[in-house]
Amino acid sequence: MLKILNFVGARPNFMKVAPIVAAMKRHPSDFLPLIVHTGQHYDAAMSDAFFTDLNLPPPDIHLGVGSGSHAVQTAAVMERFEPVVLNEKPDWVLVVGDVNSTIACALVCVKLGIKVAHVEAGLRSRDRTMPEEINRLLTDQIADLLLTPSHDADENLLAEGIPPERIRMVGNVMIDSLLGNLERARQSKIKSELGLVDGGYVVLTLHRPSNVDNRKTFEGIVNALETISLSLPVMFPVHPRTRKTIAEFGLTDRIAAIANLRLIEPLGYLDFLSLYSAARFVLTDSGGIQEETTALGIPCLTLRENTERPITVEMGTNVVVGTDTRKIVSEASAILSRSSSTEYRQPPLWDGHTAERILAVLQEVSGS
Ligand code: UD1
Repeated sequence: MLKILNFVGARPNFMKVAPIVAAMKRHPSDFLPLIVHTGQHYDAAMSDAFFTDLNLPPPDIHLGVGSGSHAVQTAAVMERFEPVVLNEKPDWVLVVGDVNSTIACALVCVKLGIKVAHVEAGLRSRDRTMPEEINRLLTDQIADLLLTPSHDADENLLAEGIPPERIRMVGNVMIDSLLGNLERARQSKIKSELGLVDGGYVVLTLHRPSNVDNRKTFEGIVNALETISLSLPVMFPVHPRTRKTIAEFGLTDRIAAIANLRLIEPLGYLDFLSLYSAARFVLTDSGGIQEETTALGIPCLTLRENTERPITVEMGTNVVVGTDTRKIVSEASAILSRSSSTEYRQPPLWDGHTAERILAVLQEVSGS
């Protein structure tokens, strides 16, 4: 029996941990999973909604950390997690993704000699101004087991000198959640509530500090939205960070004046899946949405200068378009002028069975 502490902290973690915990609960004689929530995200719409939608059991332990600067948030997770791990004595701690909670937990464990597995290891944007890139690099250096979603991730880790025996390509566990919930998402009423028809709208998400904490960049994106929204309505679930900076930059009235741009509250997992899966295309600076649109064959324009998920460009439907107004508008027009759907392939092992492969690797490396 392996006792596993599964970590969640921020919104993009929940859909990665849910299928892993569900798979462990299907094998109760082999796994004892506990969920630890750092509390990095705490609003009902950013956290609780995902537990409900994903049938994720409530956290066994909640660290209640909340928001703060990078140093404050990372330090608070470390300080509050250390006594928990000493008390629980798990066989493995499983961390996912690249948020501040990920590196904080991994760092506590490595100092205590507790084994850490990192799910979604090896992704690299090569942009060290991104806080997530620092979290990825450091977590992968110290984790005992690196579970990767794609071949590029394996190559990155090997190039950084990580021994091959620590690396296992298991596929993309977020796609387990996506495929497992497509049917349930069809019951969502979000599209009819918003008066939308399939293929007749665009979905926008925006929350990267490099976009929304920088007035010039943010305004450049708003300029592009003015033009794009003349062709199709744009649905914009607004992240709390973004809502704050819209107000701080005095952009509230300007954005409200764009008739076809609809600002809505952040959506739960099923409503959001229902919404983007029927969009004509998606505009985003999220990492996970680049992958989810690839899995469903929905065209995606990534509003960033780089991506840590190049496989979504190589095989999928993603174009890394940057933040230049003209470039965004011209790529959006190119999608709108195409009648047939984009050619794309599914990356290997993005098949809905990644969680089972993760369990098998954990058992194998534990000799159980
Ligand atoms: C974090 C992750 C980012 C991930 C994103 C998904 C890091 C460094 N960043 O960014 O990788 O893509 O989550 O959402 O870990 N806030 C609320 N309610 C909440 C949570 C946050 O109002 O429940 C507000 C607070 O004002 C907070 C700000 O949003 O200061 C930013 O939150 P934070 O967790 O620091 O970073 P995110 O931008 O959410």
